[in-house]
Amino acid sequence: MPKVKFITADGSEKEINADNDVSLMMNAVNNGIDGIIAECGGACSCATCHVIIDPEWYGKLSEPQNLEKDMLEFVAEPSDTSRLSCQINVTDELEGLIVTVPSAQY
Ligand code: FES
Repeated sequence: MPKVKFITADGSEKEINADNDVSLMMNAVNNGIDGIIAECGGACSCATCHVIIDPEWYGKLSEPQNLEKDMLEFVAEPSDTSRLSCQINVTDELEGLIVTVPSAQY
């Protein structure tokens, strides 16, 4: 159960104990993280689970697949380290991961 820190648009932080082998999106929803809407339920077709990965962490994650890259072109606040949280599988290797929820999702 790695600890993952979510930073919200107003700068407040919430750390969760994330479940392994569950997406980062589901972990956020299950822990009441505001701004992770996840309208499509994880089907990579809504982009309402967009998060901005801490730059220190971005390169440690698996590469986004083409469908995710396509969807990231439609997010409201794109960043060089944008990802869709439904496409990130949580493992112990993510201990200490820091992500920011874009302000456009509130
Ligand atoms: S939940 Fe819809 S794209 Fe991630």
